[in-house]
Amino acid sequence: MSNQDKINKLIELRGEARLGGGQKRIDAQHAKGKLTARERIEILLDEGSFEEFDMFVTHRCTNFGMEKTKFMGDGVVTGHGTIDGRVVYVFSQDFTVFGGSLSETFAQKICKIMDMAMKVGAPVIGINDSGGARIQEGVTSLAGYAEIFQRNIMASGVIPQISAIFGPCAGGAVYSPALTDFIMMTENSSYMFVTGPKVVKTVTGEDISTEDLGGAQVHASRSGVSHFMLESEEEGLLLLRKLISYLPQNNLEEPPLVETNDPIDRIEDVLNTIIPDNPNQPYDMKEVIYTIVDEGEFLEVHRDYARNIIVGFCRMAGASVGVIANQPNFLAGVLDCDASRKAARFVRFCDAFNIPILTLVDVPGFLPGSGQEYNGIITHGAKLMFAYGEATVPKVTVTLRKSYGGAHDVMSCKQLRGDLNYAWPTAEIAVMGASGAIEVLEGRAMAAIEDPEEKTKFIAAKESEYKEKFANPYQAAAYGYIDDVIEPRNTRFRVIRGFQSLQTKKLTNPPKKHSNIPL
Ligand code: HXC
Repeated sequence: MSNQDKINKLIELRGEARLGGGQKRIDAQHAKGKLTARERIEILLDEGSFEEFDMFVTHRCTNFGMEKTKFMGDGVVTGHGTIDGRVVYVFSQDFTVFGGSLSETFAQKICKIMDMAMKVGAPVIGINDSGGARIQEGVTSLAGYAEIFQRNIMASGVIPQISAIFGPCAGGAVYSPALTDFIMMTENSSYMFVTGPKVVKTVTGEDISTEDLGGAQVHASRSGVSHFMLESEEEGLLLLRKLISYLPQNNLEEPPLVETNDPIDRIEDVLNTIIPDNPNQPYDMKEVIYTIVDEGEFLEVHRDYARNIIVGFCRMAGASVGVIANQPNFLAGVLDCDASRKAARFVRFCDAFNIPILTLVDVPGFLPGSGQEYNGIITHGAKLMFAYGEATVPKVTVTLRKSYGGAHDVMSCKQLRGDLNYAWPTAEIAVMGASGAIEVLEGRAMAAIEDPEEKTKFIAAKESEYKEKFANPYQAAAYGYIDDVIEPRNTRFRVIRGFQSLQTKKLTNPPKKHSNIPL
């Protein structure tokens, strides 16, 4: 064989590997409206930046005549490339090869790029489209999963890990994405469940469709397993690029600064009138967020889950900021189990990756009731408090309106190491709302008044006295728990100046093996 022949053979082999399970299966993938593993990588990464590894790997299984069927690459495309010039490691499961099922060698390929990503300190993006454990391989496939899980765990909090689910992801296979920082799912073509509809039917008798059991809608809005729901894979791949743009490469770096033309001192008169005069009337907290962030750009995470709290990424003066904000427009912005878990996880992500935290507070308290108590609101609320209290990144808090009771403490108050706590003049910082307070304080006096008109007058007078004293930010400001009461229209400017002053903040927690956050 001449050297040229050898080169030609390489080119031929590469061509063969690029076809994965073959043209017929690629056509079948396209017919389902799905892209192939390689097409996905092409859209995800900067043009021409992909460097592939292990293209020549094949499985080593001999069970069920498997030695006769081998495909180069063995069902997963792995390597690295760049997003906006920054290195990321990628694996993309290839459904055209044995349904993207995971073999021993398939797992080894993924582990290799995870190890390299850890070595160089770069994010890992995993694109999932797989029938799960390769049935013919038995326990070596399960061991392969466990190798990946262990790496997911060790990489957690060190490098960002993001999972896109663009097809099946079932059984124990769900646990690799579940161990990563963010999951996105495509509508009508992806699903995640521990046990599929057939097993569910056999074991519990429940009749349920794949989509209703583990589709994107369910996980984005009910279980909260997925952080983003997308209409198409293309949309998802572009979202991955956007998400990465807010994140540092690893826990020892800062997120990238992005140049902006949005003036730091932009005054927004609209914020002076956004809070309704009636304290029980809602308003949309997202309007506040869009108004104060750079260029009105906010990447919301968990948009459809626990909508009473908003979390997501923005930039302020070009720097990444994680926003946590109560949403008065949904359940009055109350804290419940789901909202607490959602916000706690986001706070911890930001803290792990050096992203400063902006908290916008308008919270009437925790949601009362047996439903919440039975679901463990005590533990979940504690989780959010713990997350804020252990966070060492810069924390700026603005109280817009209500900040009552335990929820006041939880939402990044001064004593949970809030660095800068501002309030609007419309803030009400107190143990509870006026009517609840008067009921407790004046219950006996109220019961003693027989005339209903007199009683109403008495209650109104007492409530007004209470509001005068507590339905404002000045008592808290008098104790220094609020650093300043600010004019709403100046919020962007004040928050940015706050974060700028905190850029050199250094705070470390006492040495320990790890904390014991209430889970
Ligand atoms: C080996 C598999 C496979 C698997 C699919 N294939 N899943 N091969 N192991 N797990 C193969 C099929 O034989 C077929 O090969 C090709 O992939 C495409 O599959 P189809 O069934 O034709 O595709 P589709 O109709 O789209 O259905 C996709 C599917 C289905 C829903 C994923 O294939 C399926 O139910 N597969 C089994 C899922 C499963 O039970 N996996 C194990 C879960 S337990 P040909 O040659 O015909 O193209 C698990 C444990 C992990 O994963 C534990 C970690 C701790």
